[in-house]
Amino acid sequence: MISEKILREGLVNTIENTHLPIGELSRGKVRDCYEKGDNLVLVATDRLSAFDVVLTTIPFKGQVLNKLSDYWFKKTKHIINNHVLSVPDPNAMVVVKCEPLPIEMVVRAYLTGVTSTSIWTAYERGERIFCGHHLPDGMKKHQRLENPILTPSTKAEKGQHDRSLSKEEIISSGLVSVEDFELMENVATHLFVYGLSLSRTRGLILVDTKYEFGKTPEGKIVLIDEVHTPDSSRYWYENTYQGAFERGEDPKSFDKEYVRRWLKEELGYVGEGTIPKIPDHVRIEAARRYIEACECITGEQFLPDLEEPLKRFERNLF
Ligand SMILES: Nc1ncnc2c1ncn2[C@@H]1O[C@H](COP(=O)(O)OP(=O)(O)O)[C@@H](O)[C@H]1O
Ligand SMILES: [Mg+2]
Repeated sequence: MISEKILREGLVNTIENTHLPIGELSRGKVRDCYEKGDNLVLVATDRLSAFDVVLTTIPFKGQVLNKLSDYWFKKTKHIINNHVLSVPDPNAMVVVKCEPLPIEMVVRAYLTGVTSTSIWTAYERGERIFCGHHLPDGMKKHQRLENPILTPSTKAEKGQHDRSLSKEEIISSGLVSVEDFELMENVATHLFVYGLSLSRTRGLILVDTKYEFGKTPEGKIVLIDEVHTPDSSRYWYENTYQGAFERGEDPKSFDKEYVRRWLKEELGYVGEGTIPKIPDHVRIEAARRYIEACECITGEQFLPDLEEPLKRFERNLF
């Protein structure tokens, strides 16, 4: 268990924006991406993004994300090759620069979510077809779907929300070819089934997740971005699921969902209007949950690197 003292000290050293002289920078919501020759250096910052906006920073979040992606990329190599070349720093990985395919492959096993684009929000509104999948009447919040479903979405421009589409809509729009789509569909399904079963052995439910694919300079499709991290996925503790579901409550979840829920319950914020200020106690609790997530998934103790980040970056990335 990580001490309160380390978490509290971590608050002042969080990585918000990096400015490293190592290549051209493009900033995602969470990662700073530097072009370095034919490669990219992806620096996982401590920014917390939810509802498609950056809300605050969370101590050690970048390290946790980097570690978990590294873990899952290694574990899933038998299903698909990925972009990772090396992991030279606790906050960074060097990856093959790819042409991202413009669709996020979302897979869901449960009827849940709180954002305006979530499957539960659509269901609650009365929609019974989601991305081409028929949903029966009478389902309850957090109920398991009969089978995991693929609900692809477009990658939204900055400040916009993603849009969920059916396979037919994607193919007819010409966003990706049928062959590419079917490869991604097949791989995403395998990855999810594998993630679900591995998580289960750790007492976790992989509720839903999102995969991104890219084409290498040789034209091969590989898994890019991040995989099965608490930022790209929702996890619940299995032992809290059944009881919570029956009582109509939320199962215990990791981090990002925790902050989203806090915002919704305490402030009624669901992503519209002025971004509220997140208090330190919520940032600390989120950090605790990210670290708990990491330890639970990997089965190993998380040892945060406490060195001043810039010094470390100079040594490891320049
Ligand atoms: N191997 C890769 N090649 C090209 N782009 C990549 C690769 N891996 C990840 N990316 C892109 O880098 C960005 C990662 O930063 P992130 O903070 O997740 O951004 P976003 O706000 O788009 O989610 C994403 O836009 C992702 O599509
Ligand atoms: Mg992202």
